[in-house]
Amino acid sequence: MRTFDTISSLRAAVRAARGDRRAIGFVPTMGALHAGHVALLQRARAECDYVVMSVFVNPTQFGPTEDFQKYPRDLREDSATAQSAGVDALFAPTEDEMYPDGPRVTVDVPEVASRWEGAVRPGHFCGVATVCAKLFNIVQPDRAYFGQKDYQQLKVIQRLVFDLFLPLTVVAVPTLREDDGLAMSSRNRFLSAEERAASTVLNSALRAALDRFRTGEQSASALNAVLRERLAEEPRAQIDYAVVVNAETLEPAVGAIAGRAVALIAARLGAVRLIDNMLLDNGAESRPTASP
Ligand code: PAJ
Repeated sequence: MRTFDTISSLRAAVRAARGDRRAIGFVPTMGALHAGHVALLQRARAECDYVVMSVFVNPTQFGPTEDFQKYPRDLREDSATAQSAGVDALFAPTEDEMYPDGPRVTVDVPEVASRWEGAVRPGHFCGVATVCAKLFNIVQPDRAYFGQKDYQQLKVIQRLVFDLFLPLTVVAVPTLREDDGLAMSSRNRFLSAEERAASTVLNSALRAALDRFRTGEQSASALNAVLRERLAEEPRAQIDYAVVVNAETLEPAVGAIAGRAVALIAARLGAVRLIDNMLLDNGAESRPTASP
């Protein structure tokens, strides 16, 4: 694995790899890698000839009161994880390299970015879309890998790629969970023991809604009530939103659910904000965990 901190050196390496007619896979991250990130890397490794991973804690997607300063950073450890997952090129640019004149040109993805996380975190998805547009232009991958864990982010990126005719395929990777169902996240490490125990309520609320859906409940308001009732059983969890939405537009589902729907939850446990989601499908949702 080679590590690059400049755009020009990374581009030269990718150009050489592409010269050998190799498919370029790209996994953008903010570091603090865990098994969820590794699942993305493994998928990229299996499907592509040359795998690029970026580590960049992107300042423009953090709000003024958010955890940009204390976001965990450990490039040495991330580098070891990337190496053992078979990454070919690790791109770890500085803020100056990515925003040499500060944030100027921005990419807005209206509608799909406006609700839920977008409403609670104004500007967040503009920061995400802008940095991903920059990274896509730097790496020029054939395939880029995103986790379903950040479902709304995935939809924003799919919309960005579709509307701007970016020549790459977005690959969605299922959420990797701890054995007790908590979705893996770089922020889980900030949970106290009590908060960690309470955090399983997000997944159990989602599973409760999925079970009700699979046993025939079609009413969006009844499914929303299942989410809220289950979450209310854990007083430590402060709900930001818990709602069943259209899986493509992310508009709230109303009446009887038609087409694909997804249940979205955001909740705070102490100072830690967690998000999770689950597609309401009739088959067995793949539910990989860290253990075999
Ligand atoms: P980060 O939070 O580091 O996540 C990088 C990628 O890992 C995202 O696509 C995210 O959905 C995926 N991921 C995180 N936890 C996961 C889990 N438990 N299972 C499966 N995939 C998981 O998301 C970002 O960084 C940034 O917004 C970024 C896209 C890099 C732009 O700055």
